[in-house]
Amino acid sequence: MAQKIVAGNWKMNLSAGEGKTLVSEIVAGDRSSDVAVMVFPPSLYVQKLSEVAKNEISVGVQNFNPNESGAFTGELAISQVKSVGSSIGLIGHSERRSLFGESDAFLKLKVDAAIAQGFQFIFCCGEPLEIREAGTEFNYVKNQLEASLFHLSAEQMKNGIIAYEPVWAIGTGKTATSSQAEEMHAEIRSWLTEKYGEDTAQSVSILYGGSCNNKNAKELFACPNVDGGLIGGASLKAESFLEIINAF
Ligand code: 13P
Repeated sequence: MAQKIVAGNWKMNLSAGEGKTLVSEIVAGDRSSDVAVMVFPPSLYVQKLSEVAKNEISVGVQNFNPNESGAFTGELAISQVKSVGSSIGLIGHSERRSLFGESDAFLKLKVDAAIAQGFQFIFCCGEPLEIREAGTEFNYVKNQLEASLFHLSAEQMKNGIIAYEPVWAIGTGKTATSSQAEEMHAEIRSWLTEKYGEDTAQSVSILYGGSCNNKNAKELFACPNVDGGLIGGASLKAESFLEIINAF
């Protein structure tokens, strides 16, 4: 069985003080113990928030650089992230792909750097609106996974985390219906089974992201192949985030 996960991607929101309050409230909140909870704040806050999180929830980074060190102004190496107590990062978020030009090849370098340095990651995939309208979303998402992730061995893929985030549903208030989400998640699971076998496929958590909130999480998480969510806007308030965590 894949681990159930609810992760909050704060993007470029909240002050340091607001972030600290939010993490304290999540830690103190009533949470189901079989759900792994993660937050991805702005990197500046990661050290402090890792202390506040007291190992009860994971604190990760929204971005990192695949190089080990050197002249990469503004970037963070995995070893630096680990040195402040964090051991997980996002890879391939659609905003990194579209706004910061991160290519499939660059994302593959991040995946390889993370694997080489024992750093966990959530690999994000998902199609833009025009691809959904053209009806080619399955091919599109499969290509994203094949280009940057599916070169891993079964051992490396085991306990991996994939987030399906249809770009047309991100920050738009337009959620995929539970059947649209389940359909894509089931496809992703079947590609994993084809490539890595049943055992590995069942151990990979597949999260849904894209306007997932405290109103629709229950229905989405009830889908057999939806193992949790990667939440944007609704992760910025303890009350709604805790409701999502408890939506299984
Ligand atoms: P929203 O939940 O705000 O749509 O954002 C989803 C997302 O991009 C999470 O990474």
